[in-house]
Amino acid sequence: MMNAKRKARTVLCALIFTGGLLVASSLSSQGMRGTIKKESFGKTTGGEQIDLYTLSNKKGMEVSITNFGATVVTLKVPDRAGKAADIVLGYDTLDGYEKGTSYFGATVGRYGNRIGGGKFSLDGKTYTLPKNNGENTLHGGIVGFNKKVWKAREIALKEGQTVEMTYVSPDGEEGFPGNLSTKVVFTLPAERNELRIEYSATTDKDTVLNLTNHSYFNLAGKGSGDILDHVLTLHAKEFTPVDKALIPTGELASVAGTPMDFNTATAIGKRINDNYEQLVFGKGYDHNWVLARSGSGNLSLAAEASDPKSGRKLEVLTTEPGVQFYSGNFLDGAKGKGGKPYPLRAAFCLETQHFPDSPNHPNFPSTVLKPNAVFRSETVFRFSAK
Ligand code: GLA
Repeated sequence: MMNAKRKARTVLCALIFTGGLLVASSLSSQGMRGTIKKESFGKTTGGEQIDLYTLSNKKGMEVSITNFGATVVTLKVPDRAGKAADIVLGYDTLDGYEKGTSYFGATVGRYGNRIGGGKFSLDGKTYTLPKNNGENTLHGGIVGFNKKVWKAREIALKEGQTVEMTYVSPDGEEGFPGNLSTKVVFTLPAERNELRIEYSATTDKDTVLNLTNHSYFNLAGKGSGDILDHVLTLHAKEFTPVDKALIPTGELASVAGTPMDFNTATAIGKRINDNYEQLVFGKGYDHNWVLARSGSGNLSLAAEASDPKSGRKLEVLTTEPGVQFYSGNFLDGAKGKGGKPYPLRAAFCLETQHFPDSPNHPNFPSTVLKPNAVFRSETVFRFSAK
């Protein structure tokens, strides 16, 4: 028979033991699939609480995302020596994102890139949008999805960590028809260094949409000079030429024999200052490439970029028909994270998308979404180093 003292000790030991097991098992399952942490990112000037979700995996990658603009704030990936660095431009605090005009890391909507003349017609009705880029509407208008507070929730999946963001854009917001419910799901797999972004949306009226992520990459690390020696491949035989205001002419032009041909890996800076009209109009690269894809809607490799110094490589896979390669031509030295300036061409963007101004070009793949249909799109930013 156990005396009372001994019994108590046995129970205590059992508790410590099971407690230990519980802690150990939760640690190891976290270890298996990585971790997710939620913390405050401050309050908007309007007093709304904003959070920052940090996802990490066991391969050395870490990404933090805020529900302000469903924005990627930091993206840390290892170089060839295994040393991680944050490779996206951005700000240290929420205030930077509230005031910023560069769309650093943001989810862009309802319509990524430009709509010429700030109007389009749909079902015989003309919609007039606010103009925020000369005579045109850029990236969803004056207050685009990048400035909205999204609802967020974390999901721990077997294969990794996920944060899901949703935003309901009311009928008529920034001139667009239909209540649009948008979901963006960010996943960091446990076993692979990649950020998976899945978009979906539904509407209650015919509308148009074009969603993308506007991360600015510098694979040598944010704030470490320009990206002119980064080497780029774009799997595209054609691009959509633009006019002076960067509105597509409607033509699909061959890249062959032009500085727009990146079918063979080429340094971004090699031809960027060529006296070629499209580069003059863009002040560098700021164009949509027509991806050479099967059209099946499956993920396929759109672009590859690498930094010879750090050995980091980015591959972009997407279900979208186009990619906007933007070489940071409007960056002007304004300060970002750690007070470091972001000068001209301090980063590049690969914005997977439908073509700019599609609502005004019936020959482009359609951006129309109808009630009872679900819009779905996926993009993967995959990293390696050698
Ligand atoms: C896109 C556009 C550019 C510019 C940037 C944001 O890439 O095509 O012209 O507006 O976004 O500064």
